[in-house]
Amino acid sequence: MNLSSIRNFSIIAHIDHGKSTLADRLLEKTNSMPKKKMAEEQVLDQMDLERERGITIKSHPVRMYYILNDREYELHLIDTPGHVDFSYEVSRSLAACEGALLVVDATQGIEAQTLANYNLALENGLVLIPVINKIDLPGSEIERVKMQLIDTLGFSEDEILLVSAKEGIGIDELLEAIITRIPPPRGSTEKSLEALIFDAYFDSYRGVVVYTRIFNGSVRKGTKIMMMSNRGVYEVDEVGYFSFGLHPTETLDAGEVGYIIANIKNVKDAQVGDTITDADSPVEHPLPGFKRIKPMVFCGLFPQESNGYQDLRDSLEKLQLNDPALVFEPENSEALGPGFRCGFLGTLHMEIVEERLEREYGVKLIATAPNVVYKVYTKDGRLIEINNPSQFPYYSEVEKVEEPYVRVSIISPSEFIGPVMELCLGKRGVLIDMNYIDPIKVVFTYELPLSEVMFDFFDKLKSVTRGYASLDYEPIGFRESDLVKLDILVKGEPVDALSIIVHRDESEKRAREIVKKLRALIPRQLFEIPIQASVNGKIIARENIPPIKKNVLQKCYGGDVTRKKKLLEKQKEGKKRLKQIGQVEVPQEAFLAILKSE
Ligand code: GTP
Repeated sequence: MNLSSIRNFSIIAHIDHGKSTLADRLLEKTNSMPKKKMAEEQVLDQMDLERERGITIKSHPVRMYYILNDREYELHLIDTPGHVDFSYEVSRSLAACEGALLVVDATQGIEAQTLANYNLALENGLVLIPVINKIDLPGSEIERVKMQLIDTLGFSEDEILLVSAKEGIGIDELLEAIITRIPPPRGSTEKSLEALIFDAYFDSYRGVVVYTRIFNGSVRKGTKIMMMSNRGVYEVDEVGYFSFGLHPTETLDAGEVGYIIANIKNVKDAQVGDTITDADSPVEHPLPGFKRIKPMVFCGLFPQESNGYQDLRDSLEKLQLNDPALVFEPENSEALGPGFRCGFLGTLHMEIVEERLEREYGVKLIATAPNVVYKVYTKDGRLIEINNPSQFPYYSEVEKVEEPYVRVSIISPSEFIGPVMELCLGKRGVLIDMNYIDPIKVVFTYELPLSEVMFDFFDKLKSVTRGYASLDYEPIGFRESDLVKLDILVKGEPVDALSIIVHRDESEKRAREIVKKLRALIPRQLFEIPIQASVNGKIIARENIPPIKKNVLQKCYGGDVTRKKKLLEKQKEGKKRLKQIGQVEVPQEAFLAILKSE
């Protein structure tokens, strides 16, 4: 198709502001939706998990056709993931577009992710169309949200479109704005091939399906392509576009969004952000913005059953085929036995992987508390990167420790300024900036250790602002902190899987909280169980779990065997998710509870 008839765009929004619902309406209006899909909602979210949680995890491009003033246009919508864990993927999806719809909920106004996405879109030079959605709701405050868009983001009043994605109001006007305001792609089919990878998935029959935007040149069956980051060369087997499945075409040309299948065996060889070029006449420089993704959060995953190690390994390997951001290596915990140390983009990514392992692969897991990566400089001049608290060197060997920091944006109603500041201060935050978006809404910029933000920060923020605040963050590098390893001993035995790294000033308070929590979580047994916390070998907190004397078989003294068996079975059932550590059984919750502070 002629370049001037193509538009590539994305929809960006804060969570729940109606991105997927709006995509549904656009697909409907352009008759792009297969009939059987019509009854469903949020049709682009294909994974069960995406539908259940109402979140978008993968990007879902789809091609639509629309006629305006007797001319047919080819529109490529790239629906992007909305969570901060996936912001690199979002930035690459945006780089594949010329424009984006910035959707804001009329009842909520600008939120933290609206701002973060707005900035990402500007960095990628996109034309933005501001859209106020949910205007059908009685609680909508159109004028107020308009003023926010004008005052804070610099839009003009006549640019702003009013839409109800649910009721289908304003959709024609929106399609017209997409065509008239977003510029068509530039580029030439005459030049060498230059294409951006913005996503990929592994199909067991076809190999890797690469999602791409062609900037220059064209690609067809038989083209020899090269990945610029690792010089891998492949012969193209098929190209095409997406519209609820793969639709093969003769070529993919400059300006278009589509897929390439080229006998690539591993998603790792088609990295998001990489440039594809022609192996015979390569371009000199790759497209800007490529980064190798690095995991930000680690945790230990252990099979619950002692013979489950191989199953867990197989499942992780299978999952990794489709999720190159997931990394793992074998880990041997003294307490939990053999398992894996796994790295993730963030805590949502971690939860998704754990859930998929259990749900899709039927593996039962014990997961340890997540932690960030620490840089430890030792007195003998080494730098060790630590992704597991149990690797933390002896205190006497440590020169200094650095931990990752993030810049956090929080948007909150102004009545909660006090509680928000108090919360951030308690999490070692440094206030960088504070501005009013409108008379009753404030945006804070803080710098905080990632470890403090990742775990219960969001829950706490929600609770101190009665659910009204929103949060987004981006990494800003490593900074020195006074950190120590806090060890937990159960019945005198250190449990490596329960060690955490904390700030020295917090260590005593955390130690007391943790032993108290463990006391409540670990079931009483026939003997007394002391729970202790120590830093550098010094015990700083202790609780005792008193013994019980209970025998489930007592009830059926001299009774029949089947009843005895039944009772034992029942007891076994109740012990699910318990891990035997020495003589003591520790439940899964204990491993996660150690993170949450009071
Ligand atoms: P994430 O994928 O989680 O980021 O959410 P999203 O932005 O895609 O939001 P989604 O489309 O899932 O909409 C969130 C909720 O708002 C759903 O319950 C929708 O039915 C509802 N919703 C979306 N648009 C409208 C609208 O115009 N009017 C009303 N009343 N409800 C809407």
